[in-house]
Amino acid sequence: MASNALDSIIDAIRTVVDAVVSNPSPSTIGVTLLVLLLPFLALFILALSQREQPPTPPPGCRKLGLQGKSNLSDQYSKKYSRGADPSPENPWIVKALFIYPLKSCAGVELGESDVIRTGLKHDRQFTFGQYVTSLPSLDGKVESEWNFITQRTFPRLAKVETEVWIPDPEAPGHSPDAEYVKSEGCLVVRFPFSPDADFSLDGLKAYGRILAARLSGKSEPVIEFRVPFNPPKDRIKKMGYRSEKIKIWKDSPEAMNIGCEVPEDVMAKLKYTLGVTNPLSLFRIDTSKYREVFKCAPKKKDVGFQTIIGMADSYPMHILNLASIHHVSCQLPRGYSPLNALRYRANVYVTGPPSFNEDDWARARIGDCTYHISCRTTRCKLPNVDPETGLADRNEPGATMRKYRVIDKGSQSPCLGMQVTPLTEGVISVGDEIELLERGEHFFLKV
Ligand SMILES: *[C@@H]1O[C@H](CO)[C@@H](O)[C@H](O)[C@H]1NC(C)=O
Repeated sequence: MASNALDSIIDAIRTVVDAVVSNPSPSTIGVTLLVLLLPFLALFILALSQREQPPTPPPGCRKLGLQGKSNLSDQYSKKYSRGADPSPENPWIVKALFIYPLKSCAGVELGESDVIRTGLKHDRQFTFGQYVTSLPSLDGKVESEWNFITQRTFPRLAKVETEVWIPDPEAPGHSPDAEYVKSEGCLVVRFPFSPDADFSLDGLKAYGRILAARLSGKSEPVIEFRVPFNPPKDRIKKMGYRSEKIKIWKDSPEAMNIGCEVPEDVMAKLKYTLGVTNPLSLFRIDTSKYREVFKCAPKKKDVGFQTIIGMADSYPMHILNLASIHHVSCQLPRGYSPLNALRYRANVYVTGPPSFNEDDWARARIGDCTYHISCRTTRCKLPNVDPETGLADRNEPGATMRKYRVIDKGSQSPCLGMQVTPLTEGVISVGDEIELLERGEHFFLKV
């Protein structure tokens, strides 16, 4: 039917064009222009009608995060490339704070954060996992397991945005029984998806959605879903979450498979956006089964607790000095600088110290908390993904870092930034001063 409609439109256009060619006059030309413009006008109106209304906020919750522009908005300023001993003219301070509630996806910027044993509160509590079947072993057996996914293999994860909404008695719809109040808030996940556009009615509407997204300044329409942040027992039971092992590097914690919280068609679209062909699911760390960290973490006999993490790669927190990023940026081949600090996905960005001064930090006070600087951060290829476009560069900045940042005797990988374990719980805020308490040797331990 749709193609018949299209045929008749084309016929009509043809008739008019023929008429103009055989009898050119101002009025026939005017009619022609109108007829030619009509389809565009219709499409425009269709686009307007497909504009997405912003979804209603989760009842009883407010959005966590910095209001106003990013504290990294001036990160490329040359003044952050220098650095010196701490002084009133050159304070060492926290420049910006980020959490990544959903591993390997876009982060959420904060003005301040609670610091708990696992690092910044709400950081890396979730991860996507794909179901992978191994190659057969010598006796012909194959095994399948859930494996975490990252931007290294699925760079489009950078385009998956997250928000954390937390219960707030002042927020509209707040009641102790509200779904997301009971679950300590919710995680909102948003990803770009362009529906197929063709000349069917649905296809035209899809085209309208794409056009509407462009008109509102986005490159593609977005799809959103929400999951409870910390599902209470009754929810776990009702939804029938399974507790399953998910492999994260060499670790296989038992986590909650909460994929059933994501509607099937939404998950299918997400897989398409990311380019994942295996079964895909969403996992939440079980808060009673955090992963213990040994390696370079402080010893339990010294500090009285074993370091634990959620879905982070290796340690509770990651701290990065902007001057060091400027230094790497200056070494890059033409066309690659300036280097966006967000590529390195730190929790705490600091300014003040000269570049690479942090390489031998051992203990520091930031605001009212004390931190064990556990080891250097060895770098995989993930920073080669541009967080703004979700495109992975084949070489940079990895190749440049490899030239002069393989500095730790325990690792063949280039290093940038430090892995940190909080020794106390408390709060960290943008603008907090950093007081270095101790320097020391570092040796990266792989296990
Ligand atoms: C960080 O950003 C917030 C919001 O844009 C702003 O109010 C604050 O002054 C900034 N802080 C610093 C230290 O730049």
